[in-house]
Amino acid sequence: MMFVHTDTKSPTSPLRALSVLVFLLLLIHLCTGQSLIGSSQPIVATHGDNVTLPCRLDPAEDVTDLTVEWTRPDLDPRFVHVRRSGQELVSKKHPWFRERTSLFINELKHGNISLKLSRVKLSDQGTYRCFIPGKEKLSSVQLFVASDAVSSPVITLAGVDKTTGGVVLHCSSSRWHPEPEVLWLDGEGNLLSAGPTETVRGPDDLYTVSSRVTVEKRHSNSFTCRVQQNNINQTTEAEIHIQDDFFIFLSSSNVPIIIGWAVSLAVCIIVILSLVFLFLKRRQNKTITKRSRSEETEEGEKKKSSKRNKNKGPVVDDLETKRTTSQQNPLLSLDGVQRKEEPEEEVERLRKQLENKETEFKEKQTELHKLRTENQRLKTDLQNLENKLQRKQTDAEREEKRLKDQLESKTKKVKDRGAEIQQLQDQNRDLQRLNQDLENKNKQLERNQTAAEREEERLKSQTKQLESQLSEEKKNRMEAERKMKEELQKTKTEVHLLPKPVSCFYLTDLWMRLRQLKLSMTTNQSQ
Ligand SMILES: *[C@@H]1O[C@H](CO)[C@@H](O)[C@H](O)[C@H]1NC(C)=O
Ligand SMILES: *[C@@H]1O[C@H](CO)[C@@H](O)[C@H](O)[C@H]1NC(C)=O
Ligand SMILES: *[C@@H]1O[C@H](CO)[C@@H](O)[C@H](O)[C@H]1NC(C)=O
Repeated sequence: MMFVHTDTKSPTSPLRALSVLVFLLLLIHLCTGQSLIGSSQPIVATHGDNVTLPCRLDPAEDVTDLTVEWTRPDLDPRFVHVRRSGQELVSKKHPWFRERTSLFINELKHGNISLKLSRVKLSDQGTYRCFIPGKEKLSSVQLFVASDAVSSPVITLAGVDKTTGGVVLHCSSSRWHPEPEVLWLDGEGNLLSAGPTETVRGPDDLYTVSSRVTVEKRHSNSFTCRVQQNNINQTTEAEIHIQDDFFIFLSSSNVPIIIGWAVSLAVCIIVILSLVFLFLKRRQNKTITKRSRSEETEEGEKKKSSKRNKNKGPVVDDLETKRTTSQQNPLLSLDGVQRKEEPEEEVERLRKQLENKETEFKEKQTELHKLRTENQRLKTDLQNLENKLQRKQTDAEREEKRLKDQLESKTKKVKDRGAEIQQLQDQNRDLQRLNQDLENKNKQLERNQTAAEREEERLKSQTKQLESQLSEEKKNRMEAERKMKEELQKTKTEVHLLPKPVSCFYLTDLWMRLRQLKLSMTTNQSQ
C-alpha cells in the first residue's frame, strides 16, 4: 500500500511507474499463495500394484520446463525422480526406483506433478516429498504398502489353566505388512484382556503375529481373534466355539478331590464307629463282671449271718429271718431291690445307647453307601467325559490328517506347478537361445548382403570403367578409321593426280600401306 501511495504522489516518471507496476505484480504473485498440494490422507498400495502419489501446484501453472523433484528424505541418495530441462535425471535417483517412476507428462502443463510408482515393493513404504526448486514449494505424501498375501488367523487350544479352570486359546496370523495388532473378543463383542502380542518379522519383511488368551465359561462360549491394521484398513478374524461340556469337564477335574474327601470321611466314620462299638462292648463286660462279683459277696454274707444266727438271741434271730426272707424274696427286700434296679437301669441305658449307636451306624452306612454310589456315578461321568474327549480327539486327529493330506496335495500341486514353471522357463530359455541364433544368423546374413552389395558396387564400377574404356577405344578406332579414310581419299586423289605409268608402282606401295593399317585395326579391335 505504501508503494501505491508513492506512486500516486509522483506519477511524473513513467519509468518509475513501470517499475512499481512490476513490483506490484511480483507482490501479487507472492501473495497469491501458490502452493504444492500433496495428500493429507496416506496413500495405500498393495504389494506389486502401481500407485499414483498425488501432488499439484495450486493455482495451476505450466511446470513443463521447471525442475521437479520427488524425494524420500530417509534414503541416501534421497532422489526418487528428478526432472530437469524437460528430461529425467536417471543418474541421480536411488537404485530402488530404477525404471519404476514416471511423471504424467501431459499433466505437467496443468501443474500436476503426480508421480506414478510401478510394481510397488514393501520397502517403498514411507514419506515422499514433491518439490519445485524454482518455486521453493514442497509438500509430502505418505505411502503405506499392504501385503497381498495375508493369511487368515488360526485359533488353537493351547492348554488349560489349572488355577482358574479356563481354556488357553492361541491365535496366529502370518504374512502381514505393515505390522498388525491382535484383539480377542467374546461372543458379545467385548474386548478380552490377552497376553502381549508376539511379532516375528520374516526375511521377506512380512510379519507373523500371535497371541494367547485364557477364557472361562461365558454366556456364548464363542470367541473371536481379530487381526487388524488400521493404516491400511485391513481386518481378518477367526472364531472358535467351545462346547459347554468341555468347560464342565474342566471343572470336573475337581472330581477326584471330592471323591478323596468322601473316602476319607467314610474312613473316619468307620473308625469312630468301631471305637464306639469297642468302648460299649468293654463297658458291657465291666458291668457283667461287677454284677457277678456283687452276687458272690451277697452269698458270703448270707453264710456269715447264718453262723451268727446260731450264736445270737431271738431278737437277732428275728432280724436275721427278716433278712433271710428278704433274701429269699428279692422283690420284698428294699435293699435288694435298690441294688438290683441300679445295674438294670444301667443296662437299659446302655442298650438304648447301643441301639442309638447302631441306628447311627446304620445311617452312616447308608450315607457311605450313598457316597459310594455318588462316587460311582461321578466315576462313570468322568469315564463318559473321557470317552467324549477321546472321541473328540480322534475327530480332531482325523480332521488334522485330512488337512494334512489336503496340504500335501496342495504342496504337491504347487510343486507340480513349479516344475511346470521350470519347464516353461527352460522352454523360454531355449526360445531365447533360438532367438539369439536367429539374430546372429540374421546379422550374418546382413553382413553377407552388405558384402554382396559392395561386390556388386565394385563390379558395377568396373563395368562402368570398362564401358568408358570401350567407348574411348571406339572413339579412337573411329578416329583412326576416319584418318584412314581421309588418307585413302587423299591417296585416291593422289592416284588420280598421278600420271598413269607411275601409278603401278605407287599402287603397290599404297596397297602395302593399306594392309598395314587394316592389320593395326584388327589388333585394336581384338584388344
Ligand atoms: C503398472 O505399470 C506398468 C508400466 O509402468 C504396466 O506395464 C503395468 O501393466 C501396470 N500394472 C498394473 C497392474 O496396472
Ligand atoms: C494428476 O494426474 C493424474 C494422472 O493423470 C490424475 O490421476 C490426477 O487426478 C491428476 N490430479 C489432478 C489434481 O488433476
Ligand atoms: C475401511 O473399509 C471398510 C470396508 O472394507 C469401509 O467401509 C470403510 O469406509 C473403510 N475405511 C477407511 C477409513 O477407508
